[in-house]
Amino acid sequence: MRATSQTLIVRSHTHFPTIRTFSSWTPCVACHRMCKYGHMSNSFLLRDALAEFPPYVPGKPPTTTPGLKPYKLSSNENHLAPLPGVTDAIADAGQVPANYPDPKSTKLVADIAAHLDVAEAEIVPGAGASEILSALTNITLEAGTSVVYPWPSFEMYPILASARGAEKRPVPLLEDGRHDFQGLVAAIDDTTRLILLCSPNNPTGLSISTAELEGFMAEVPPEVIVVLDEAYFEFATDAEVVDGMAAYQKFPNLVLARTFSKAHGLAGLRVGFGVADPTIATALRQVIAPFSVTSAAQVAAVESLSRTDEVLVRAKEVAATRDQFAQDLRDAGLTVSDSQGNYVWVALGTDDAQAFEEACAEQAVAVRKLSGGVRISIGPDEALDRVREVAKTFAASRTA
Ligand SMILES: Cc1ncc(COP(=O)(O)O)c(C=O)c1O
Repeated sequence: MRATSQTLIVRSHTHFPTIRTFSSWTPCVACHRMCKYGHMSNSFLLRDALAEFPPYVPGKPPTTTPGLKPYKLSSNENHLAPLPGVTDAIADAGQVPANYPDPKSTKLVADIAAHLDVAEAEIVPGAGASEILSALTNITLEAGTSVVYPWPSFEMYPILASARGAEKRPVPLLEDGRHDFQGLVAAIDDTTRLILLCSPNNPTGLSISTAELEGFMAEVPPEVIVVLDEAYFEFATDAEVVDGMAAYQKFPNLVLARTFSKAHGLAGLRVGFGVADPTIATALRQVIAPFSVTSAAQVAAVESLSRTDEVLVRAKEVAATRDQFAQDLRDAGLTVSDSQGNYVWVALGTDDAQAFEEACAEQAVAVRKLSGGVRISIGPDEALDRVREVAKTFAASRTA
């Protein structure tokens, strides 16, 4: 193999078969701690870029506290029971695990296209919106190109940019957590191949308005692809929130990323889709692994889509809980944004965010500390009540 600037010798590990006595444990290259297995270094040719990957830190599971039911409010999952019919569809699909799924997700694509009133050629199914986002970076980015996105936002954006060797151009959000569209425009140059927008934004919860998006699109060269990540759009209640489909009809370079993980409650099955101009959609299909949407995911999504009215009613119930919860935290003295997702964002400094996360963990509730604050997914009442109590004690201790 020819050595290029893309290659780097890094250490990996193998196992010695014997387990050592404690006195002979060694600092381990694989485990990064004292280890009894005697892992040793090997050398392989891997890409330099791997050293630069920001880590993806998944939401923590809740800690176990005697006498308290644990709750995970750290991954923006849907806590409601699945819709009737969805689990039956999954069970039926599970009867034939030996068969590959339909590689084209034919029924799902047809149903989504009919639901959104677009051609089937404009729908690209994938293993979650994550796979669509990954494919979008795969068809646009490479060394020498750049990608522009708001920050803080969905953690996968910089990871995917790193994976493609592109220059990352994060544009800080405005003080109130909204996208800085002037800053985003200023970050675009002739190396820019992709722009990622997130509405409602994860983690701050603020959404993009129709006027903001339309003004922005007018400034973007029409050949540059702009992605509107709408993972949480079903929870939005603000009348100003941009309607992705209406915008998509106006701007051929706008691609929508949507998911069944959040409002539809199918995160564990991994199914989402992109809505894109047929030329872009064809390119996306070229890079997505065949069979990535499992049979169970396809039938569950079909079933859930057929019950969209119920999904939306439930999403609005979650939104009502969200608004009340956000107000309660404000009343307790915390700074909480006007979230349009299934989560709230409490702006806190690093030490306070750490302390708040730990205080919730002591109550067996996992919340998500991120740069600039804590994100709390909307969950069952009992879990939110515990966080309310933590917030009161926490805010009181800060003012004392
Ligand atoms: C903004 C945003 N986009 C996309 C995703 C990916 O969702 P999935 O891959 O589960 O469809 C998430 C998941 O948390 C998200 O927060």
